[in-house]
Amino acid sequence: MYDRLVLRRPDDWHLHLRDGAMLAAVAPSSAAFGRAIIMPNLVPPVVTGAQARAYRDRIRTALPEGAALHPLMTLYLTEGSDPADILAAHAEGLIAAVKLYPAGATTNSDSGVRDFDRVRPVLEAMAGAGVPLLVHGEVTDPAVDIFDREAVFLDRVLDPIRRATPGLRVVLEHVTTRDGLDYVRAGGPDMGGTITAHHLVINRNHILAGGIRPHYYCLPVAKRETHRRALVEAATGGETCFFLGTDSAPHPDHAKESACGCAGCFTAPVTMPLLAAVFEAEGALDRLEGFASLHGPAFYRLPPNEDRIALVRRDVPFAAPSHIDAGGESVTVFDPGQPLYWHPEEAE
Ligand code: NCD
Ligand code: ZN
Repeated sequence: MYDRLVLRRPDDWHLHLRDGAMLAAVAPSSAAFGRAIIMPNLVPPVVTGAQARAYRDRIRTALPEGAALHPLMTLYLTEGSDPADILAAHAEGLIAAVKLYPAGATTNSDSGVRDFDRVRPVLEAMAGAGVPLLVHGEVTDPAVDIFDREAVFLDRVLDPIRRATPGLRVVLEHVTTRDGLDYVRAGGPDMGGTITAHHLVINRNHILAGGIRPHYYCLPVAKRETHRRALVEAATGGETCFFLGTDSAPHPDHAKESACGCAGCFTAPVTMPLLAAVFEAEGALDRLEGFASLHGPAFYRLPPNEDRIALVRRDVPFAAPSHIDAGGESVTVFDPGQPLYWHPEEAE
């Protein structure tokens, strides 16, 4: 049995840092990750290389002194995206990827793609230059049941895109179903999948049984228990196509605790203690480094971080705050529903 685990510094391959007072409030919670893929769904979205550069500078300013975090920027794909601007931003190392939101699929996705034929030239240019496409994989058709939207997206949207664009590198983000996992597994070396920490511990009962719990509501919505178990097996099983993307997505409490609450779980403050608990329960602590620190860089063709963190198992639970303050607004931290005994520390 371990009581101290040393691993290469983990990365977060899907993170919402927001902007302004919220950015200032939440950036410290992710500062100990090595790199993070920064989601571009601001209002208005980050569409051009110039906007990504300005946002990266605001993030750097918001990070605390000595933070490890290196932001990897993304551009928000719209039907008007300019392939030349995307390729130039990628060539100079400003952006690491491009994000596809089907219009209306989730928070701040109104500028996303409605007609996938209109982004075909951009996707072809990205395939040629090796720019990964990060996919929010849910259809928006109101006729499709919300619990089926990921699985339907694979058949209706993602597979046609990939067949029409050979060589396109794709990450299916925040996978929530066995269907999504199997799709990633079958996709070969140009296909990866991120898994959040929260989808490893909640299923749809956590959101709906015994009362509506808005802080467990995110998109893609958590599915039934069999899917959660499949996610745990994929994350802890050592498969290199799966890696950590927290999708930590803070919102002010008033926006979540509402008659129409918005989607997103703010998990960054508890990510590593929670992952350690999940991997420990599976007897797979030796695979945590692969999931959190090795498989992601391998997909992005980057070296793993050189420095290391420690996770130390203590008798006292790890104490994350229940809320943080963002410019006078309260933001609820994800409640893992269990005491967490693994404490992250900087390794000497
Ligand atoms: C994200 C957000 O709040 O920006 N919400 C969420 O439920 N995950 C958007 C997203 O990644 O879908
Ligand atoms: Zn997200």
